[in-house]
Amino acid sequence: TQGGSSDAKRRAGESAANLVVDGMVVGLGTGSTAAHAIDALGEAVDAGLDVRGIATSYQSRRRALEAGIPLTTLDAVDRVDVAIDGADQVADRHLLKGGGAAHAREKVVDGVADRFVVVVDSSKTVETLSRPVPLAVLPDAEPVVERAVEDVGGDPELRTATAKDGPVVTDDGNLVLDCSFGPIEDPAGLASTLSSLPGVVEHGLFVGMVDEIHVGTDGDVTVERF
Ligand code: A5P
Repeated sequence: TQGGSSDAKRRAGESAANLVVDGMVVGLGTGSTAAHAIDALGEAVDAGLDVRGIATSYQSRRRALEAGIPLTTLDAVDRVDVAIDGADQVADRHLLKGGGAAHAREKVVDGVADRFVVVVDSSKTVETLSRPVPLAVLPDAEPVVERAVEDVGGDPELRTATAKDGPVVTDDGNLVLDCSFGPIEDPAGLASTLSSLPGVVEHGLFVGMVDEIHVGTDGDVTVERF
């Protein structure tokens, strides 16, 4: 969670939730902007909308349960109609995700959805991705991955928890390495390099996956479709 006003995030989340119609299976993203979409969907369910959600994290599952959205799982459905998820940075059709350490599950659900809809406030949109790339890493492999990231020109930092002594552990039991590469001029190239490193469960670069981006500002939402 960073940047942007909560009003802008709410506008983006509500705008994306409006795309959902009866009968859909909906991927539920993680973070404060996706939470607005979950809340809006919950209100629509209260008003009679028939949907099932697939959570991308413990946090989105809890939020969906509180909102009253019936949940299902990937093994119980044969398709996901739409996924609505936030992002930490957006450049064109490319995203950086994983600020909430949920990017591995998010990539599975967002990637399988017929439509992947991103919800952000305007502070997230940039020319060139530049934030550190989060890697979910098998715990035993952490020292090996650190060295491999340095070898490919990155500067890895183990993400530590604020309310616990020690590292952040993902919902699936992995560690997170935030890896700075400076401005990322070739997201596809870096994505395939990072995917090739043994011990990396998933990286936070989402290259060309997005179908639609809803960008909230304090007064408005703009929608970009690809
Ligand atoms: C979770 O790991 C991320 O991919 C989130 O989607 C991201 O951190 C967005 O969160 P906010 O909407 O709170 O900025």
